[in-house]
Amino acid sequence: MNYDQKYSAYLEKIEQALGECCAELLPETSRVCQAARYSLLAGGKRVRAILTLAACELLGGNEAAALRFACAVEMLHCYSLIHDDLPCMDNDDMRRGKPSCHKAFGEATALLAGDALLTEAFEAIAGAPACAETKARAALALAAGAGSKGMVWGQELDLRCEGQPVSEETLRLIHANKTGALINAAVQLGAAAALAGEPDCAALRAYALDLGLVFQIVDDVLDVTSTSEELGKPAGSDASNEKTTFATLYGSEGARELARSINENACSALRAGYGEKADFLVQLAQTLLCRRS
Ligand code: IPE
Ligand code: IPE
Ligand code: MG
Ligand code: MG
Ligand code: MG
Repeated sequence: MNYDQKYSAYLEKIEQALGECCAELLPETSRVCQAARYSLLAGGKRVRAILTLAACELLGGNEAAALRFACAVEMLHCYSLIHDDLPCMDNDDMRRGKPSCHKAFGEATALLAGDALLTEAFEAIAGAPACAETKARAALALAAGAGSKGMVWGQELDLRCEGQPVSEETLRLIHANKTGALINAAVQLGAAAALAGEPDCAALRAYALDLGLVFQIVDDVLDVTSTSEELGKPAGSDASNEKTTFATLYGSEGARELARSINENACSALRAGYGEKADFLVQLAQTLLCRRS
């Protein structure tokens, strides 16, 4: 299988498993769950889920458990997007090419839809077909990436720094937490499905933290160079919110250049550690660097 075929095969498995998680964990009778499904099943690149499956495959882990963990990280990511778009945060009206959750369902329902997705992500892990140690490690990895020392911390810093000059060091800290931490959780979920040892966890962590930074730098650049139609979310959102980004610090080309060099570092380290087995994750990083949405 070449890269595109492998990506499509992963995607197909994830979409099917997400449908099953919705049926099991988000009952259709509830309007909050309808809102959660509206956002969760609206597409998206499923990058984090694919990272979980690919990391598990790299390490020869339990594929069925990884698929469930992949759903959990996408549910958690989707909650973060719903809350990120709320008027009290980035105040964005479009997401994944549709009205954002609060525009379609109202703020209170959107808030609760995010809460439901966050909570059910952990129920999805608890119900995975795996031993207790695997599931405990997965829950810990997801909580560490998403919580008060991860994504939530990054979002707090991001909001606190609006309208202020921010140094590159602080911006790296924000990006590492708001985006890198959940991307690291995604690969650590794959490692948990393989009950991997510390050397593998550390190698994946190094890759994921670089990948997360590159991912957010590219997101910053696309916010100024792309259109809302292409992005499926409002372009120019960062400027409206007076955010310092890598694009405001170094310009689009300077930011892209920095992203390229961080990406190179991530890929060469992974290749050195895993050889050809790392091909998919290396190509994924290249694709994300050049993405247009
Ligand atoms: C958007 O994430 C939020 C960021 C961390 C930049 P994605 O670009 O992965 O969004 P979807 O899941 O494809 O919609
Ligand atoms: C969001 O960063 C990171 C999250 C934790 C959701 P952004 O605010 O830049 O993400 P977009 O551009 O709205 O997708
Ligand atoms: Mg934001
Ligand atoms: Mg935003
Ligand atoms: Mg953005």
